Amino acid sequence: MAKKLFTFLFISFFLGSLTVCAQVKDSAGNMLAPTPPMGWMTWNYFGIDINENIIHEMADDMVQSGMVKAGYDHIMIDDGWQGGRDNKNNIIPDPKKFPSGIKALADYVHSKGIKLGIYSDAAQLTCAGFTASLGFEEQDAKTFASWGIDYLKYDYCHAPSDSNTAKIRYKKMADALRNSGRNIVFSICEWGGRQPWFWAAGVGGQLWRTTGDVRDSWKSVMHNYDINVKLANYAGPGHWNDPDMLVVGLRGSKGPAGDEGGSGCNDIEYQSNMSLWCIMASPLIATNDVRNMNVETKRILLNDEAIAIDQDALGKQGELKIKNDVWNVLVKPLSNGDYAVAILNRSDATQTTTINFTDLGLDGKYEIRDLWQHKSLGKAKSWKGNVLSHETKLFRLKKI
Ligand code: GLA
Repeated sequence: MAKKLFTFLFISFFLGSLTVCAQVKDSAGNMLAPTPPMGWMTWNYFGIDINENIIHEMADDMVQSGMVKAGYDHIMIDDGWQGGRDNKNNIIPDPKKFPSGIKALADYVHSKGIKLGIYSDAAQLTCAGFTASLGFEEQDAKTFASWGIDYLKYDYCHAPSDSNTAKIRYKKMADALRNSGRNIVFSICEWGGRQPWFWAAGVGGQLWRTTGDVRDSWKSVMHNYDINVKLANYAGPGHWNDPDMLVVGLRGSKGPAGDEGGSGCNDIEYQSNMSLWCIMASPLIATNDVRNMNVETKRILLNDEAIAIDQDALGKQGELKIKNDVWNVLVKPLSNGDYAVAILNRSDATQTTTINFTDLGLDGKYEIRDLWQHKSLGKAKSWKGNVLSHETKLFRLKKI
């Protein structure tokens, strides 16, 4: 009986201590992911049909298109790279898809100034049914480190649904990564079901998915946004809410995010996806075909003024200040004293509005810069204008 009570108290204390927010530092004492991670991920365009040639091409095109310069400095290999284990139980890549091995690929990607991410799962199999890491955490973390991996997305398919198991399994891999001898950002992907915003940083994660998988549709973008926007209190440098990848530029392509059919979002909606993810300090992880981006996709993904809002060093997630059936207005304080303001029209028609800055908690007069038009709109205490259906205006306000 006493032993049972002791075990119960020990487990409760252990799990309780995981809810304390911890920032993981590298060997030089620098925080991992001080700003939201940025990059490109294989999943929503390619699914499991990936190989080393695709990653090479993507690396080349990420540089050539200006993505890397804009800050998208990771390529994340998602599910489908695995080829089982060798006779020493080392996880290996599929030899047909990655005949040169992941180390050679990491060397190539690194030579382009890009970091390499990889994917596994806290069970025996991944979501798509490939070899995963449960029971091999230490060994796999060392393998990833030896390959030069910089980022691990760790999924939760085929794992028990309770929170305690999730905390234990994620902590196990976070510890293994920390002991691997390499700085590897840890992305927790259990889709928000166990409220990871309360514990994911405590177990050693730098970001955690707050939602299920995003789809290439306005409805899905709004669904993930609505969940994530309520979680502003839990984000900050080294620990971020992740409402899943940007769908910008997918344009109805046939990958996993295209399973609802149709033509995806229109450009105004993709622009909103970018604006809202930036004001929520979300990871900016594109997943479109970077080799074939049209002018609009580039305009949206490469908007340096929007990216600066996302990557601001203060690391605040923007908060909802006005919310009704038509309007959502968010405010994000920035490190130099400016504020970012996003104005979203959720209705099906163009609307005109006046936003008084005092209603957002911002007194006084501000110089208003429109971050999509890239121009100053003058000095005022309010903004009045039209917002198209599903458009999000993004402004930077400087107090004068
Ligand atoms: C889950 C994740 C996705 C993707 C797939 C891969 O659904 O949430 O982001 O990684 O698994 O199978």
